[in-house]
Amino acid sequence: MKRAAILISGGGSNMVALARDMADPDHPALPCLVLSNRPGVAGLERAAAMGIPTFAVDHRIHGRDRAAFEAELIRHLDASRPDIIVLAGFMRILTPDVTRHYAGRMLNIHPSLLPKYPGLHTHARAIEAGDAEAGATVHEVTADLDAGPILGQARVPVLPGDTPDDLAARVLVQEHRLYPAVLRRFATGDRTRLDL
Ligand code: GRF
Repeated sequence: MKRAAILISGGGSNMVALARDMADPDHPALPCLVLSNRPGVAGLERAAAMGIPTFAVDHRIHGRDRAAFEAELIRHLDASRPDIIVLAGFMRILTPDVTRHYAGRMLNIHPSLLPKYPGLHTHARAIEAGDAEAGATVHEVTADLDAGPILGQARVPVLPGDTPDDLAARVLVQEHRLYPAVLRRFATGDRTRLDL
């Protein structure tokens, strides 16, 4: 059984989808910690309500001292003895100090069809570009932001008159299918790409 630590920054809807899937006795992983860089967010309450240990490392306390924040992050993460690190709506960019430490066992979900639209405002950019489809990508995390090996993608249509919020809601439904499916495979050592 693999141990998965999940990092969040807000409501944690992906975290809930992952944790619910890991509640299946046949799942190859279990959630060992949900950690947030923002204390008091709803995602921590939702994780605690599911009986998952939680912790917050407040990045604001460290101000511009990223190294100090990341050292505390790694200390608390490693204390939970994770095999896999799952970024789920975690909104801090991690430096190579962290991505190297967890090389080959850290995943992220990004709300676009990478390599299109790394970074922020992905739905607005897809609409502005007149794209016919959008989606989400699960990838391994490397030092290059949103550029690690792709493990899975899910696609949705962009509909006439869509606002970024409309598209985000449609993509999020697919994220909650894609991420649990990819984590199940990854936890068994299967890194082959999944397209939904
Ligand atoms: C999701 O679209 C995710 O891809 C992005 O943040 C959004 C919110 O995720 N990183 P969650 O509800 O906090 O899981």
